[in-house]
Amino acid sequence: KIANALARSCKAGITQEELANEVYFIAGHGNLKYTNDKLPSVCVNRRKLQELMQLSKPDLENVVFDKNPEFENVMSDHKGQEIHFMVNPQKFMQEVLKEVCRRRDQYGKTENKGSKKLKILVDFSSPNIAKEFHEGHLRSTVIGNSLCNLYQAAGHDVVRVNYLGDWGTQFGVLLSGYERFGDETLLESNALAHLSEVYVRANKEIKNDPTLTARASEINRHLEQGNQEYLKLWQKFREISISEYKKLYKMLGVEFDVYEGESMYYNKSSEVINRLEEKGCIERPDSTDLVLAVYQCPKTGSRREVVLQKQDGTSLYITRDIVGALERKKRYGMDALQYVVDQRQDGHFTNLLNLLNIMEPSQSWSKGVDFYRSFGQIEGLSTREGKVLLLRDIIEDLSNAMLESMQHHDHKYSKEDCDPAELQQRALTMAISHLIYTDLRSNHNRPYKWKAELENVRSWKRRKGNVIPVQYCHARLCQLLENSALELTVNPDVSMEHLISSDQTSVSALPLQLVSQIARLEEVIHEGVNQSQSYCIHHYIEHLVALIGKAYKNYIVNDKSLTLEEMEARYLLFFCARQTLSNALKLLGIPPMKKV
Ligand code: ARG
Repeated sequence: KIANALARSCKAGITQEELANEVYFIAGHGNLKYTNDKLPSVCVNRRKLQELMQLSKPDLENVVFDKNPEFENVMSDHKGQEIHFMVNPQKFMQEVLKEVCRRRDQYGKTENKGSKKLKILVDFSSPNIAKEFHEGHLRSTVIGNSLCNLYQAAGHDVVRVNYLGDWGTQFGVLLSGYERFGDETLLESNALAHLSEVYVRANKEIKNDPTLTARASEINRHLEQGNQEYLKLWQKFREISISEYKKLYKMLGVEFDVYEGESMYYNKSSEVINRLEEKGCIERPDSTDLVLAVYQCPKTGSRREVVLQKQDGTSLYITRDIVGALERKKRYGMDALQYVVDQRQDGHFTNLLNLLNIMEPSQSWSKGVDFYRSFGQIEGLSTREGKVLLLRDIIEDLSNAMLESMQHHDHKYSKEDCDPAELQQRALTMAISHLIYTDLRSNHNRPYKWKAELENVRSWKRRKGNVIPVQYCHARLCQLLENSALELTVNPDVSMEHLISSDQTSVSALPLQLVSQIARLEEVIHEGVNQSQSYCIHHYIEHLVALIGKAYKNYIVNDKSLTLEEMEARYLLFFCARQTLSNALKLLGIPPMKKV
């Protein structure tokens, strides 16, 4: 509204729509505030507005301080740095709640991004077929999925890519191991576990017997040269593994648009080498096929050496990533490419971006989002000796802890009205919610302390930032809204005067605060997108749940002393609160629970 009102009075050479868009983003920085007289206001930086509207200071004053019917009042803060646009609280609440009712599960999402819409390709999860799905992949899955949800909600097009580690030296090791002690029945019944066992054992044996290393390299070379027999077996490993992964992803509620793999990009190394040779970056230090890219890092000025091809002519992880980026650009024509990988690969991605920029200096590899979203490791989730820790084990552990704790700490669950299978299912959903919610609690760069989180579940600590009270809140609202005895339906036209009483106690400000928080969802999504961070949504949910909790206590719906309109107004408020909470949880990848 502010944007449009300003745009209408703006005489600068930009279109109203463009200006409205810009003003919207300036305003959208957590700037919905209350002034003392409880008028919600949006604060906009004066200098930015001036720049944007290409107006001098007095001209700007003329435009904004003109009596404008949209606003209750327009004033400057005492330093004159910000302009506050104040809106009528009732009108404001009415409009926000109407909007929620209109858009339902689309509420919070940007409807029309116009020319600012980007196509963003996100490469995340990306486990290695031969090795275990480790904690880094788990975190990448959770963070990557939530970022994709955010980008989509902000109006961008997203391509979700799972880039499987399905090529390279480890396949030589794996296939050579499989030759000796592979078991087809085990492969069919539990591919991921069997393949990683074979891989671990093969690696152990290689350490004691150098002839096995030679055998592994030989098989790897055969693979790169297109040996049909090995390729067939490799293909089988790949297919079975993908179908196993899909089951895990389903449990986590994650889907991909494409499964790519390093295998798609191994045979184009010579193209990369030729192009870098033209740029004078290639060195061949011995008489073998070893090829290095040597360049000066533009940021630090240091000399960096990157192996692009091994002595035996086979490709490397980095070479495949370079080819992959170039081919994705051709295939998808994306505006931005983002890799979600843990911090141990910082060096790799610095090299990748630098080499891409050397090869194609005119291309922008990432517009609007970081090229590389690195994150801290999960601490205290070590691989058990001799046995790999699979994602399934992690979830099972957490789910058991959750079940135990639900049965111990909440009398509700010991009652016979809860069927054990259903309880188990709820524990599983709660476990997955917890896994995601705690992971996304703080800046992705920070490590995630797994043991402490598991302990929190066991001790049923309702600490801040825990998902249990959040799911409780959602379930409680479902119960309230689905209570047929109330005989109420959603009426978006009910007047808000029934929610705001004229006395100025703190309780009466509560509905306005709750609606203001509801109103902020879209702006918080954009905040998350600008930083490539999901914790903004986590913080948003915490604040929302706290306000819902207070309102729930103070604004009882089923109160016989209320008029029908008063009941309807409260019902509408909680209906919209639940919708907003549900939408926010889904952005993180958490399924909102109707029952806990
Ligand atoms: N498979 C790799 C690993 O497990 C992660 C791949 C990340 N994506 C990429 N394009 N390099 O470490």
